[in-house]
Amino acid sequence: MKNMEFPMTIMVISTVLFLCSSSAYAQKTALPPSLTPTPAPAPAPEYVNLTDLLTVAGPFHTFLSYLESTKVLETFQNQANNTEEGITLFVPKDTAFSSLKKPSLSNLTKDQLKSLLLFHGLPHYYSLSDFKNLSGSSPIPTFAGGQYTLNFTDVSGTVHISSGWTDTKVSSSVHSTDPVAIYQVDKVLLPEAIFGTDIPPTPAPAPSPDIAPTADSSSGPTTEGKSSPTSSPSSSYRMISWGIWSHMVLALSGVLVLFL
Ligand SMILES: *[C@@H]1O[C@H](CO)[C@@H](O)[C@H](O)[C@H]1NC(C)=O
Ligand SMILES: *[C@@H]1O[C@H](CO)[C@@H](O)[C@H](O)[C@H]1NC(C)=O
Ligand SMILES: *[C@@H]1O[C@H](CO)[C@@H](O)[C@H](O)[C@H]1NC(C)=O
Ligand SMILES: *[C@@H]1O[C@H](CO)[C@@H](O)[C@H](O)[C@H]1NC(C)=O
Ligand SMILES: *[C@@H]1O[C@H](CO)[C@@H](O)[C@H](O)[C@H]1NC(C)=O
Repeated sequence: MKNMEFPMTIMVISTVLFLCSSSAYAQKTALPPSLTPTPAPAPAPEYVNLTDLLTVAGPFHTFLSYLESTKVLETFQNQANNTEEGITLFVPKDTAFSSLKKPSLSNLTKDQLKSLLLFHGLPHYYSLSDFKNLSGSSPIPTFAGGQYTLNFTDVSGTVHISSGWTDTKVSSSVHSTDPVAIYQVDKVLLPEAIFGTDIPPTPAPAPSPDIAPTADSSSGPTTEGKSSPTSSPSSSYRMISWGIWSHMVLALSGVLVLFL
């Protein structure tokens, strides 16, 4: 009787030990993936709400209200929603509009104002680095079509924009994730197709933008969607393997104790 009981106890105890350790192991392996955020590339947002972006950043209230009153916003949003090409917008801050004295926008016809707004968009998504390549292929057509073109030059990483009337630069990136790019510019872009080619000579005090070009290049593309996937996966992996080892050691010592 005693001789029969001993192997039975070993079997029962080792089975229990095995079940405990394996279920605990299963729990440990199941838990970490649900706890740690997936380091995989963030899925591109399905729908980019331009109104939302322009409301939060800026302030771009003047530009946004012009977009709304002329319904150009719908054209832009439609391009963002429904095309592979995507869209690139150059958005002047409110101060760019308030400091614009001559020529005045208040004198424009409805159609001219609409064209001026369409002039601030390109029917294609361009990242900041894409503009290096665009420099060679100026003039670039805008949403306004026809003679409404812009020239781009890359000056040590800063994108400069020229419309003839306006020389400005991209001063920061509001949003740059394919298919939507929104860049802040320092001035309202004035097309020759509206204001003519009789451009008044620019008053001299220009050299200030060239003194500190580094200040602009610091405002690079936005880094949204970039998480730091470095630490968590390796530490959770270490937890798993530690879990396996501790359970194996536990099971082994359990068996040893029974035999002694
Ligand atoms: C876009 O954002 C604006 C401002 O946040 C909001 O009023 C509007 O309803 C949004 N549009 C859609 C289609 O979600
Ligand atoms: C863009 O997509 C959103 C969400 O699907 C929709 O509510 C909105 O009406 C669309 N706007 C345009 C102009 O296509
Ligand atoms: C408005 O347009 C008229 C005619 O084109 C022009 O004579 C006038 O100077 C303009 N006014 C402003 C403020 O630009
Ligand atoms: C830049 O332009 C050249 C010629 O226009 C083209 O061959 C090349 O693929 C372009 N590079 C990028 C990164 O778009
Ligand atoms: C744009 O570039 C083209 C070709 O280099 C040039 O002929 C034109 O004068 C430029 N326009 C402006 C406004 O700089």
